[in-house]
Formats: sequence, structure tokens, C-alpha cells
Amino acid sequence: MHIDRLEATFLWLSGIMLVVFAGAIIVSVFGLGVQLPTQVDQVAPTEVDTEPGFSDPGLREIYPGRYEAYFVAQAWQFTPNEITVPVGSEVTFFLTSKDVLHGFKVFDTNVNIMIIPGQVSEVTYTFDEPGVYRFYCHEYCGALHHTMTGVINVVEGE
Ligand code: CUA
Repeated sequence: MHIDRLEATFLWLSGIMLVVFAGAIIVSVFGLGVQLPTQVDQVAPTEVDTEPGFSDPGLREIYPGRYEAYFVAQAWQFTPNEITVPVGSEVTFFLTSKDVLHGFKVFDTNVNIMIIPGQVSEVTYTFDEPGVYRFYCHEYCGALHHTMTGVINVVEGE
């Protein structure tokens, strides 16, 4: 079967691109730890205050170096808006909204997730470098959207 030289070239280019894209996905998932958010749990916005975890939001130590942090988002604040963990800690964030769509982006990390009313969002990150990590809402949620921020302090030692 005769294939035109140009057509063959484009077939090869298409094949190479498919391999490159597949490689990018494999590197993202297994090398960089990029993960698609999956449905974790649901909680009605009106019942956030009585939902275990969210009724008393904040940081919990599961065992040394391993934490869970529950955050409630509502216009225009995060509760809590500051947590402190030792350097090297692995923190799993659970977030939900009491009103509208919000976002949760932590500077200098790949933590970037939507907070959807009715849904629980979950994301895990290991803080290997000490510092002050500011987080903020990145979904426009109203007049004071730009004030919706907080900090994660990652400190040496205890
Ligand atoms: Cu919450 Cu923007």
C-alpha cells in the first residue's frame, strides 16, 4: 500500500505526540503526584455546623508527622485561617463551603482545589520546607473575595 510521504510524516508526528502526551500524564501522576480530585463525601451547607470534623474545624494530629485539617469556607473567610505544623508534616485538608463556590490555593505548593457547596474536597500535601505558606480563595465569591486568605506556618522542630 502506498502512503504519501507527507501523510506518513504526519502519521509519525501524531504517533509521537500521543506517546509524549501519555508520558506527560504518567510523569504527572507518578512523578509529581498530581491527582484528580474524587468525590470524598457530601455535606449539606446547612448542616456543616453539625457534621463531624467540620463542626469543630481545625488541625488534628493523627500521629507524629501526620495531620488532618478541616476548613470551613464561607463568604468571606476560612475557619480556621491559620494553622501551624512542624516541617516535614503530611497534611490532608478537608474543605467544604457553607454558601457559594470558593477555592483553596496554597502558595508555593501544588495544592489547588475548588470548594463546592454540598461537597467535601480533600487534598494532601507534605510540607518539606519551613516557611509561611499563604492560602487564598481563587474563585470569585463576592465583594470581599480578595480578603479570603489565611496562613499555614511550617516550623522547625516541635
Ligand atoms: Cu471565597 Cu473567593
